[in-house]
Amino acid sequence: MVATPLIKVSRTAVSTRLNGEETEFLCEPRQSLLECLRDNVGLTGTKEGCNDGNCGACSVLMDGRLVNSCLVLGVEAEGAEITTVEGLATPQGLHPLQQSFLEQAALQCGICTPGFLVAAKALLDQEPNPTEHQVRFWLAGNLCRCTGYDKIVRAVLHAAAIQRGAVPSEATAASTDGHST
Ligand code: FES
Ligand code: FES
Repeated sequence: MVATPLIKVSRTAVSTRLNGEETEFLCEPRQSLLECLRDNVGLTGTKEGCNDGNCGACSVLMDGRLVNSCLVLGVEAEGAEITTVEGLATPQGLHPLQQSFLEQAALQCGICTPGFLVAAKALLDQEPNPTEHQVRFWLAGNLCRCTGYDKIVRAVLHAAAIQRGAVPSEATAASTDGHST
């Protein structure tokens, strides 16, 4: 009987700034950034939908640019600044987009939600006061199979208004109410 030769896979150490923290992970040359985030680093907020660049569920920010992490090799993250959905909230609370998605009931199963949140953050970083058309155009690369898009678009517009201080979030209003009684 002929012994099966052992295949040795080399792994590369990749250094990134991930959600504001210096992070190093080992990565096989074939692995996508999506796989590295989920399987090697343990950040499972970024979702795998199609794994071929069509659904946007795996959206992350790489050096401030919106990318589909299933189409980026893990080794390409060397020296990059990566933001995933886990990097949106702060110790002070949810990001206005997260708060607004909750307030507007803009999710059902939630698989697409991290991708929408990250993509919407990229839009609001560039355009704090987008029109509905701009939101719909920007989010055209993100697919949702359950919610329909109206609530998601409304949530992004609402979050933009919260960020501009044009409306209070329900979280802020609730805490203000709590203090006044
Ligand atoms: S999983 Fe990356 S675009 Fe669908
Ligand atoms: S909420 Fe289920 S796919 Fe969007």
